[in-house]
Amino acid sequence: MSFALGAACSFRGVGYAYPGSSVPALEDLTFSVGEGEWVALLGANGSGKSTVARICNALLIPTQGDCSVFGLSTSDPANAFAIRSMVGLVFQNPDNQIVASVVEEDVAFGPENLGLPPQEIEARVRGALEAVGLWDRRRSATYALSGGQKQRLALAGALAMNPRMLVLDEATAMIDPLGRRKFVSLIGELKRSGKAILQITHRLEEIVGADRVLVLKGGRKVFEGTPRELFSSRKELGSLGLGVPPLVELRQELVERGLVSPQVSPTVEALAGEICP
Ligand SMILES: Nc1ncnc2c1ncn2[C@@H]1O[C@H](COP(=O)(O)OP(=O)(O)OP(=O)(O)O)[C@@H](O)[C@H]1O
Ligand SMILES: [Mg+2]
Repeated sequence: MSFALGAACSFRGVGYAYPGSSVPALEDLTFSVGEGEWVALLGANGSGKSTVARICNALLIPTQGDCSVFGLSTSDPANAFAIRSMVGLVFQNPDNQIVASVVEEDVAFGPENLGLPPQEIEARVRGALEAVGLWDRRRSATYALSGGQKQRLALAGALAMNPRMLVLDEATAMIDPLGRRKFVSLIGELKRSGKAILQITHRLEEIVGADRVLVLKGGRKVFEGTPRELFSSRKELGSLGLGVPPLVELRQELVERGLVSPQVSPTVEALAGEICP
Protein backbone atom coordinates (compact mmCIF):
# COMPACT_ATOMS: atom_id res chain seq x y z
CA MET A 1 0.00 0.00 0.00
CA SER A 2 1.32 3.45 -0.83
CA PHE A 3 1.03 6.51 1.37
CA ALA A 4 0.16 9.82 -0.19
CA LEU A 5 2.57 12.67 0.27
CA GLY A 6 1.12 15.07 2.80
CA ALA A 7 -0.19 12.26 4.99
CA ALA A 8 -1.16 13.73 8.33
CA CYS A 9 -1.21 10.39 10.08
CA SER A 10 -0.07 6.95 8.89
CA PHE A 11 -0.59 3.65 10.65
CA ARG A 12 1.58 0.85 9.25
CA GLY A 13 0.80 -2.60 10.55
CA VAL A 14 -0.03 -1.19 13.98
CA GLY A 15 -0.76 -3.58 16.81
CA TYR A 16 -1.42 -2.62 20.39
CA ALA A 17 -1.88 -4.74 23.51
CA TYR A 18 -2.72 -3.02 26.81
CA PRO A 19 -0.29 -3.94 29.59
CA GLY A 20 -1.37 -7.17 31.23
CA SER A 21 -3.92 -7.96 28.53
CA SER A 22 -3.45 -11.15 26.52
CA VAL A 23 -5.86 -10.05 23.78
CA PRO A 24 -4.53 -7.25 21.56
CA ALA A 25 -6.79 -4.20 21.24
CA LEU A 26 -5.48 -3.57 17.71
CA GLU A 27 -3.92 -5.89 15.14
CA ASP A 28 -2.11 -5.17 11.90
CA LEU A 29 -3.86 -1.86 11.28
CA THR A 30 -2.79 0.07 8.20
CA PHE A 31 -4.41 3.30 7.05
CA SER A 32 -3.61 6.94 6.60
CA VAL A 33 -5.39 10.26 6.89
CA GLY A 34 -4.28 12.93 4.46
CA GLU A 35 -4.18 16.68 5.00
CA GLY A 36 -7.60 18.09 4.16
CA GLU A 37 -9.10 14.62 4.41
CA TRP A 38 -12.02 13.56 6.61
CA VAL A 39 -11.84 9.92 7.62
CA ALA A 40 -14.56 8.37 9.75
CA LEU A 41 -13.79 5.45 12.06
CA LEU A 42 -16.63 3.15 13.04
CA GLY A 43 -16.93 -0.07 14.96
CA ALA A 44 -18.83 -1.75 17.76
CA ASN A 45 -17.99 -1.16 21.43
CA GLY A 46 -14.53 -2.43 22.25
CA SER A 47 -13.42 -2.66 18.61
CA GLY A 48 -10.38 -0.45 19.24
CA LYS A 49 -11.48 3.03 18.10
CA SER A 50 -10.34 4.96 21.18
CA THR A 51 -7.07 3.03 21.14
CA VAL A 52 -6.49 4.38 17.61
CA ALA A 53 -7.24 7.91 18.86
CA ARG A 54 -4.72 7.61 21.70
CA ILE A 55 -2.07 6.27 19.33
CA CYS A 56 -2.56 9.25 16.96
CA ASN A 57 -1.68 11.57 19.81
CA ALA A 58 1.24 9.50 21.13
CA LEU A 59 -0.64 8.82 24.38
CA LEU A 60 -0.11 5.14 23.54
CA ILE A 61 2.82 3.76 21.56
CA PRO A 62 2.19 0.85 19.16
CA THR A 63 3.48 -2.48 20.46
CA GLN A 64 3.82 -3.55 16.81
CA GLY A 65 4.24 -1.61 13.60
CA ASP A 66 4.58 2.14 13.45
CA CYS A 67 2.47 5.26 13.58
CA SER A 68 3.75 8.54 12.21
CA VAL A 69 2.14 11.94 12.44
CA PHE A 70 3.18 14.58 9.89
CA GLY A 71 6.25 12.44 9.28
CA LEU A 72 7.21 12.09 12.96
CA SER A 73 7.20 8.61 14.49
CA THR A 74 5.09 8.46 17.65
CA SER A 75 7.50 5.83 19.02
CA ASP A 76 10.24 8.42 19.56
CA PRO A 77 9.53 10.20 22.88
CA ALA A 78 11.39 13.25 21.55
CA ASN A 79 8.51 13.77 19.08
CA ALA A 80 5.69 13.67 21.64
CA PHE A 81 5.47 17.43 22.26
CA ALA A 82 5.48 18.30 18.55
CA ILE A 83 2.88 15.62 17.81
CA ARG A 84 0.56 16.77 20.59
CA SER A 85 0.75 20.34 19.41
CA MET A 86 -0.25 19.26 15.88
CA VAL A 87 -3.03 16.84 16.83
CA GLY A 88 -6.07 18.04 18.75
CA LEU A 89 -7.87 15.22 20.53
CA VAL A 90 -11.44 15.57 21.76
CA PHE A 91 -12.80 12.77 23.93
CA GLN A 92 -16.31 11.67 24.67
CA ASN A 93 -16.26 12.80 28.31
CA PRO A 94 -15.90 16.58 28.34
CA ASP A 95 -15.58 16.79 32.13
CA ASN A 96 -12.07 15.37 31.88
CA GLN A 97 -11.11 18.05 29.38
CA ILE A 98 -12.45 21.22 30.99
CA VAL A 99 -9.81 22.91 33.13
CA ALA A 100 -11.19 26.37 33.98
CA SER A 101 -14.32 27.60 35.73
CA VAL A 102 -15.33 30.15 33.07
CA VAL A 103 -15.95 29.25 29.43
CA GLU A 104 -13.61 31.79 27.79
CA GLU A 105 -10.84 31.07 30.29
CA ASP A 106 -11.10 27.39 29.50
CA VAL A 107 -10.62 28.02 25.77
CA ALA A 108 -7.78 30.48 26.46
CA PHE A 109 -5.91 27.98 28.62
CA GLY A 110 -4.18 26.13 25.78
CA PRO A 111 -3.15 29.21 23.74
CA GLU A 112 -1.89 30.87 26.96
CA ASN A 113 0.32 27.84 27.58
CA LEU A 114 1.73 28.26 24.10
CA GLY A 115 2.83 31.73 25.21
CA LEU A 116 0.94 33.49 22.42
CA PRO A 117 0.46 37.29 22.54
CA PRO A 118 -2.81 38.42 24.22
CA GLN A 119 -4.37 39.70 20.99
CA GLU A 120 -3.75 36.37 19.28
CA ILE A 121 -5.24 34.53 22.27
CA GLU A 122 -8.33 36.74 22.16
CA ALA A 123 -8.79 36.16 18.44
CA ARG A 124 -8.42 32.41 18.83
CA VAL A 125 -10.85 32.24 21.76
CA ARG A 126 -13.42 34.24 19.84
CA GLY A 127 -12.97 32.23 16.63
CA ALA A 128 -13.23 28.91 18.46
CA LEU A 129 -16.27 29.90 20.54
CA GLU A 130 -18.06 31.30 17.50
CA ALA A 131 -17.30 28.15 15.53
CA VAL A 132 -19.02 25.97 18.14
CA GLY A 133 -21.84 28.44 18.87
CA LEU A 134 -20.79 29.26 22.44
CA TRP A 135 -19.68 32.88 22.03
CA ASP A 136 -22.83 34.06 23.86
CA ARG A 137 -21.91 31.81 26.76
CA ARG A 138 -18.31 32.99 27.02
CA ARG A 139 -18.75 34.36 30.54
CA SER A 140 -20.76 31.37 31.82
CA ALA A 141 -19.52 29.04 34.49
CA THR A 142 -18.34 25.83 32.86
CA TYR A 143 -20.13 23.70 35.49
CA ALA A 144 -23.44 25.29 34.47
CA LEU A 145 -23.19 24.05 30.87
CA SER A 146 -25.17 21.08 29.63
CA GLY A 147 -23.34 17.93 28.55
CA GLY A 148 -23.67 18.92 24.89
CA GLN A 149 -22.38 22.44 25.56
CA LYS A 150 -19.44 20.96 27.45
CA GLN A 151 -18.63 18.82 24.44
CA ARG A 152 -18.77 21.89 22.20
CA LEU A 153 -16.49 23.67 24.68
CA ALA A 154 -14.02 20.78 24.54
CA LEU A 155 -13.98 21.12 20.74
CA ALA A 156 -13.46 24.89 21.05
CA GLY A 157 -10.48 24.20 23.34
CA ALA A 158 -8.96 21.96 20.68
CA LEU A 159 -9.70 24.43 17.86
CA ALA A 160 -8.06 27.30 19.75
CA MET A 161 -4.77 25.40 19.55
CA ASN A 162 -5.09 25.56 15.75
CA PRO A 163 -4.05 21.91 15.29
CA ARG A 164 -3.29 20.51 11.83
CA MET A 165 -5.22 17.36 12.65
CA LEU A 166 -8.29 16.77 14.80
CA VAL A 167 -9.18 13.44 16.32
CA LEU A 168 -12.77 13.46 17.54
CA ASP A 169 -13.58 10.44 19.71
CA GLU A 170 -17.37 10.30 19.98
CA ALA A 171 -17.23 14.01 20.54
CA THR A 172 -20.93 14.51 19.78
CA ALA A 173 -22.36 11.83 22.08
CA MET A 174 -24.13 14.32 24.39
CA ILE A 175 -25.03 16.97 21.84
CA ASP A 176 -28.68 17.40 20.76
CA PRO A 177 -29.60 16.52 17.13
CA LEU A 178 -29.51 20.12 15.82
CA GLY A 179 -26.20 20.77 17.58
CA ARG A 180 -24.85 17.54 16.10
CA ARG A 181 -25.76 18.60 12.58
CA LYS A 182 -23.96 21.91 13.14
CA PHE A 183 -20.97 20.06 14.57
CA VAL A 184 -20.84 17.81 11.51
CA SER A 185 -21.06 20.76 9.14
CA LEU A 186 -18.20 22.38 11.09
CA ILE A 187 -16.16 19.21 10.49
CA GLY A 188 -16.75 19.73 6.75
CA GLU A 189 -15.54 23.34 7.00
CA LEU A 190 -12.43 22.32 8.94
CA LYS A 191 -11.64 19.68 6.34
CA ARG A 192 -12.03 22.23 3.55
CA SER A 193 -9.67 24.56 5.42
CA GLY A 194 -7.02 21.83 5.06
CA LYS A 195 -7.19 20.09 8.41
CA ALA A 196 -6.99 16.32 8.65
CA ILE A 197 -9.96 14.87 10.52
CA LEU A 198 -10.31 11.47 12.13
CA GLN A 199 -13.88 11.24 13.36
CA ILE A 200 -14.94 8.40 15.62
CA THR A 201 -18.65 7.92 15.99
CA HIS A 202 -21.44 5.40 16.41
CA ARG A 203 -23.82 7.49 14.33
CA LEU A 204 -23.80 6.65 10.65
CA GLU A 205 -25.77 9.76 9.75
CA GLU A 206 -22.75 11.81 10.90
CA ILE A 207 -20.35 10.31 8.39
CA VAL A 208 -22.18 11.08 5.16
CA GLY A 209 -19.75 13.90 4.33
CA ALA A 210 -16.60 11.91 5.11
CA ASP A 211 -14.14 11.14 2.32
CA ARG A 212 -13.50 7.65 3.58
CA VAL A 213 -14.79 5.29 6.23
CA LEU A 214 -12.91 2.61 8.13
CA VAL A 215 -14.66 -0.03 10.17
CA LEU A 216 -12.91 -1.90 12.97
CA LYS A 217 -14.00 -5.24 14.35
CA GLY A 218 -12.06 -6.91 17.14
CA GLY A 219 -9.13 -4.54 16.58
CA ARG A 220 -8.85 -5.30 12.85
CA LYS A 221 -9.89 -3.24 9.86
CA VAL A 222 -12.80 -5.00 8.20
CA PHE A 223 -13.94 -2.27 5.80
CA GLU A 224 -12.43 0.72 4.04
CA GLY A 225 -14.38 2.66 1.45
CA THR A 226 -16.63 5.62 0.84
CA PRO A 227 -19.72 6.29 2.99
CA ARG A 228 -21.85 5.47 -0.06
CA GLU A 229 -20.19 2.07 -0.43
CA LEU A 230 -20.81 1.37 3.24
CA PHE A 231 -24.43 2.47 3.11
CA SER A 232 -25.15 0.46 -0.01
CA SER A 233 -25.71 -2.77 1.87
CA ARG A 234 -27.83 -3.21 4.94
CA LYS A 235 -26.56 -6.77 5.22
CA GLU A 236 -22.97 -5.59 5.18
CA LEU A 237 -23.66 -3.04 7.89
CA GLY A 238 -25.19 -5.77 10.04
CA SER A 239 -22.25 -8.11 9.49
CA LEU A 240 -19.84 -5.32 10.44
CA GLY A 241 -21.56 -5.11 13.81
CA LEU A 242 -23.07 -1.71 13.02
CA GLY A 243 -26.66 -0.92 13.85
CA VAL A 244 -28.49 0.45 10.83
CA PRO A 245 -29.80 3.95 11.58
CA PRO A 246 -33.50 4.50 10.74
CA LEU A 247 -32.62 7.04 8.05
CA VAL A 248 -30.34 4.59 6.26
CA GLU A 249 -32.99 1.88 6.53
CA LEU A 250 -35.67 4.22 5.17
CA ARG A 251 -33.43 5.19 2.27
CA GLN A 252 -32.81 1.53 1.43
CA GLU A 253 -36.55 0.77 1.44
CA LEU A 254 -37.22 3.76 -0.83
CA VAL A 255 -34.41 2.70 -3.19
CA GLU A 256 -35.76 -0.88 -3.31
CA ARG A 257 -39.21 0.48 -4.22
CA GLY A 258 -37.72 2.63 -6.97
CA LEU A 259 -38.88 5.83 -5.27
CA VAL A 260 -35.43 7.40 -4.88
CA SER A 261 -32.20 6.95 -6.76
CA PRO A 262 -29.52 4.66 -5.30
CA GLN A 263 -27.21 7.67 -5.53
CA VAL A 264 -29.09 9.69 -2.91
CA SER A 265 -27.31 10.34 0.39
CA PRO A 266 -28.96 9.15 3.58
CA THR A 267 -29.65 12.66 4.85
CA VAL A 268 -33.05 14.08 5.74
CA GLU A 269 -32.60 16.90 3.22
CA ALA A 270 -31.50 14.67 0.31
CA LEU A 271 -34.33 12.16 0.83
CA ALA A 272 -36.98 14.87 1.20
CA GLY A 273 -35.64 16.55 -1.93
CA GLU A 274 -35.89 13.29 -3.95
CA ILE A 275 -39.40 12.48 -2.78
CA CYS A 276 -40.80 16.03 -3.02
CA PRO A 277 -38.54 17.92 -5.40
N1 LIG B 1 -6.85 0.76 29.80
C1 LIG B 1 -7.14 -0.45 29.29
N2 LIG B 1 -6.62 -1.57 29.82
C2 LIG B 1 -6.89 -2.80 29.31
N3 LIG B 1 -7.69 -3.00 28.24
C3 LIG B 1 -8.26 -1.91 27.67
C4 LIG B 1 -8.02 -0.58 28.17
N4 LIG B 1 -8.72 0.29 27.41
C5 LIG B 1 -9.36 -0.46 26.49
N5 LIG B 1 -9.08 -1.77 26.64
C6 LIG B 1 -9.59 -2.88 25.81
O1 LIG B 1 -9.12 -2.68 24.49
C7 LIG B 1 -10.15 -2.99 23.54
C8 LIG B 1 -10.41 -1.78 22.67
O2 LIG B 1 -10.90 -0.73 23.49
P1 LIG B 1 -11.26 0.70 22.92
O3 LIG B 1 -11.58 1.57 24.09
O4 LIG B 1 -10.18 1.15 22.01
O5 LIG B 1 -12.57 0.38 22.07
P2 LIG B 1 -13.65 1.38 21.44
O6 LIG B 1 -13.90 0.91 20.05
O7 LIG B 1 -13.22 2.79 21.64
O8 LIG B 1 -14.94 1.08 22.32
P3 LIG B 1 -16.17 2.05 22.71
O9 LIG B 1 -17.06 2.10 21.49
O10 LIG B 1 -16.83 1.35 23.84
O11 LIG B 1 -15.62 3.38 23.09
C9 LIG B 1 -11.35 -3.44 24.35
O12 LIG B 1 -11.34 -4.84 24.41
C10 LIG B 1 -11.11 -2.85 25.71
O13 LIG B 1 -11.68 -3.65 26.72
MG1 LIG C 1 -14.03 4.45 22.61
